[in-house]
Amino acid sequence: MCGIVGATAHNEVVNLIVDGLRTLEYRGYDSSGIAAQNTTETLIRKEAGNLSALQNSLTKNPLSGTCAIGHTRWATHGKPNRENAHPHISGNAVAVVHNGVIENSNELRQFLINRGYVFTSETDSETIPHMVDLYLNSGVGFFDACRKAIGHLEGSYAIAITFNSEPGKIIAARKGSPLIIAQGEKGYMVASDPIALREKNQIVYYLEDGDIAEVTAETCDFYDSEGKHVSRIGTRLANSKCTTSKNKFASFMQKEIFEQPDSVRATLSGRLVNSRTSNRLFDKGSCTILDKVDNIHIVACGTSLNAGQVAKYWLESIAKIPCQVEIASEYRYRDPVVPPNTLFLSISQSGETADTLAALRFANESPYLGTLGICNTDNSSLYRESEAVILTKAGIEVGVASTKALTTQLTALALLVLKFGELRNSSHVVLDSFADALSHLPEMLEDALKTEEQIKEIAQRISQHKSVLFLGRGHHYPVAIEGALKLKEISYIHAEAYAAGELKHGPLALVDRNMPVVVLCPKNDLLEKLSSNIEEVKARHGQVYLLADHKIDGQSNHEIKDVVEFECGDNLISPITFNVPLQLLAYHTAEYLGKNIDQPRNLAKSVTVE
Ligand code: F6R
Repeated sequence: MCGIVGATAHNEVVNLIVDGLRTLEYRGYDSSGIAAQNTTETLIRKEAGNLSALQNSLTKNPLSGTCAIGHTRWATHGKPNRENAHPHISGNAVAVVHNGVIENSNELRQFLINRGYVFTSETDSETIPHMVDLYLNSGVGFFDACRKAIGHLEGSYAIAITFNSEPGKIIAARKGSPLIIAQGEKGYMVASDPIALREKNQIVYYLEDGDIAEVTAETCDFYDSEGKHVSRIGTRLANSKCTTSKNKFASFMQKEIFEQPDSVRATLSGRLVNSRTSNRLFDKGSCTILDKVDNIHIVACGTSLNAGQVAKYWLESIAKIPCQVEIASEYRYRDPVVPPNTLFLSISQSGETADTLAALRFANESPYLGTLGICNTDNSSLYRESEAVILTKAGIEVGVASTKALTTQLTALALLVLKFGELRNSSHVVLDSFADALSHLPEMLEDALKTEEQIKEIAQRISQHKSVLFLGRGHHYPVAIEGALKLKEISYIHAEAYAAGELKHGPLALVDRNMPVVVLCPKNDLLEKLSSNIEEVKARHGQVYLLADHKIDGQSNHEIKDVVEFECGDNLISPITFNVPLQLLAYHTAEYLGKNIDQPRNLAKSVTVE
């Protein structure tokens, strides 16, 4: 989603901003722009399309300056065109980049139009520079004009603002959208994501909700939502081992699929000792939060929600804890009943998903026993606002389609279930085999990756279809949902997943000789039931593709188009390993279709608006 990079220093910063924007490309965007201050004026370059359009424009009309703000925009209000791209400017003096959504922008726009302001874009963001200008014209200084203007904004924002008459100064503010400030050797940077700063800056300050910062090349002062001067503690940005280069892979998504054994190894590391969870399970808070839990509410979005759905099967069957899983955007707008001793568990790769955060904030005010987060991003809003956190150790995930974040979330959830099982004296036999299976998970994932060549052939056939069905049963049903989500988001082929037993209640009507049906077929207690569902598809001449961990007997008739056999591990952990061939299927289908795999159309990596 939108990205912000700003810098004020003693040297030229325009290239630094372009480099920073390049690192944010993975988040998804449709236009970009930069405003740079030279000694007398602020100059702006912005273009629709990808960053190379902006770079071409900068080559033709170079910009220079020691203070600049840049932006990658993901359209919410108004089309993805040049006019709507940021920065937005008022009176050739106040320039603003904004992430988030200003919910009262219609009223503010009318208020400003009534006072003679002319809007040149359809965006909600353009109200901000005009509001600042209005206060500047009333005689207050730059900082106070920004503070007063920000006081009118409803909704979520991360903002960076510059003003010609106070050159070299950036006012930065946040509410609901992430923003950080980093101190480098030659000045300060402002960014929506630490990835934009890596290796260039040392100390990072995370703005709290409502904070406003006044930043120059030498100083940075923080003020809270009340306007009180406050101090914020800087943290040293660890150098990430996981670089943002693709190495030998064709795309980040492919690289990240192949990183899964290592990411899962890192997530397990030190947390499983002698077949039991260690006291290093939590990265924030402690497992005492789990002692009294009688119920669990899991809330998340997208792939993280699918991870939660798998966890529900595990929690109820292994730890015997009732569990409810809910879409964050639904949960936040209803009146959920919170039974006594209920734990709120949110799951998020980014830790910045607007709906998940809103649900967490609601939960923090509700009579939950506690709030626990499973998150891949240290210092994200979700990390800071949850009482306890288990971090997944996937490293930076660049591909918009989540892969290693999912398998590490499932690994963290499996460890949590094991911990609950230990606390509730679940069967030792079950706990031992769950722990044993988990300890072998990285090798299982390595085996699952060996299916790639066979999957490639299937992908070529799937790529010729307009629609695909995925079927699973039991804890493989959410995995089927995830397989369909992956396929649709990067190949744009319509895909739906069903619990196989639901087929005859409607979707069977879709099945004919042109319908590919991908069936997750592990050898477990439900195999017999699933076999009947497969027969239902075959009887309608559907094209069956089976993913299985066993020899398929008596299935040799011609409706079975292919069987991908692989070692998926113990039934308890196979909902993790089954994701690998499904990810590869989506990946290679999209590759055959020539899609932009890392940045699928209309999607963003971190959904910071609702
Ligand atoms: C799909 C995908 C999304 C995210 C969802 C939640 O591949 O990546 O569905 O899972 O937007 O994001 P996080 O986990 O960051 O809260």
